[in-house]
Amino acid sequence: MPVNTKFHRTCLGEIQDIQPVWMMRQAGRYLPEYLAIRQNFPDFMAFCFNPDIVTEVTLQPIERFDFDAAIIFSDILVIAQAIGQGVWFEKGHGPRLKALPSFQSWNSNWVETLNPVYDAIKKTRSKLSQDKSLIGFAATPWTLGAYMLCQNKIGTQQNLYAAIDNHAGQLALLLDKLIPIVAQHLINQVTAGCDVVQLFDSWAAFCKEDEQEDNLINPLTTILDIFWKVHPNTPVIYYGKEASHLYKDILNRISGPLVFGYDQYVDMNSTNQVNTPSQGNLDPEVLIKGGDALDAAVNNILCATKNRPHIFNLGHGIKPETPIRHVEKMLQLVRKAG
Ligand code: CP3
Repeated sequence: MPVNTKFHRTCLGEIQDIQPVWMMRQAGRYLPEYLAIRQNFPDFMAFCFNPDIVTEVTLQPIERFDFDAAIIFSDILVIAQAIGQGVWFEKGHGPRLKALPSFQSWNSNWVETLNPVYDAIKKTRSKLSQDKSLIGFAATPWTLGAYMLCQNKIGTQQNLYAAIDNHAGQLALLLDKLIPIVAQHLINQVTAGCDVVQLFDSWAAFCKEDEQEDNLINPLTTILDIFWKVHPNTPVIYYGKEASHLYKDILNRISGPLVFGYDQYVDMNSTNQVNTPSQGNLDPEVLIKGGDALDAAVNNILCATKNRPHIFNLGHGIKPETPIRHVEKMLQLVRKAG
């Protein structure tokens, strides 16, 4: 059944009286019901590949907060796992990856490993109300490749470039190998039932300026071309953390429905000339703080984006220490604003 949700229509440029709202990382550790299930699954990757569990945790924030969209619970690193690079998580440390496998030894049947993700999407879509969108996602080759080279949390630009230097000459080939895989993973998620996809470029800002064309913009626009050949009407949200200065350039080179995600460091008034639907911008720290600071920040975003298609969201993922009552307050502020 074709999806026709407020969230989807906003991604295609329709202006709303009351903006659709969801949060990056909305299914996660700030939710007691997530922690309760996660406790029984110490292996995070196994958790991500269990369709029943993924369906359940994907729906948790919808049931609690009635967000306008669900994002399939998964991780950007499932692709690294699927091509054969072992991935695991250590408490308090974040992701760990084994050494990058030689390009010839990549598992060509990576789709099979990712089938549980697509099964989870089918299952979630069948349970999700028709007025909600289901978002699929992946990371850009640059951001995913950064983890695959660092094998660890990235931390600094220096760490990342040290890892690039340790793999002399391999970065360009790595990005080239990831382009069709990321594109196909997005395509498969839409075929399974997602109606919008988001590309996370969380480490875009670490790319040196004279490499942005080769490492960020070219891979991104190539992926979009491949994706829109198969799903020409499906919106893609590009979230480039600290990279919105690239958005005008990107916009000149695309041929389908794109939404720009903004981090918390941008003044949304300054984004009015970028004539594209937008998402994001609320500082996750302000959501932790609450009170007058939260009221003011929400109102500033609503004012700046009043007469344009905007999706209310954070500027980056919600943090585990965020009080649930602040999320409720944020929703009240957005939804009574119309
Ligand atoms: O938004 C959602 O609710 C969907 C689920 C989702 C997760 N990861 C689940 C997750 C999404 C969209 C992601 C994306 C992701 N994963 C990104 C891009 C977004 C961003 O935050 O920049 C990145 C860089 C990753 C890689 C990753 N996965 C890291 C760095 C970590 C550790 C985070 C930490 O704070 O420890 C993860 C693990 C992870 N992915 C968790 C969740 C809920 C926490 C795991 C747990 O339950 O212990």
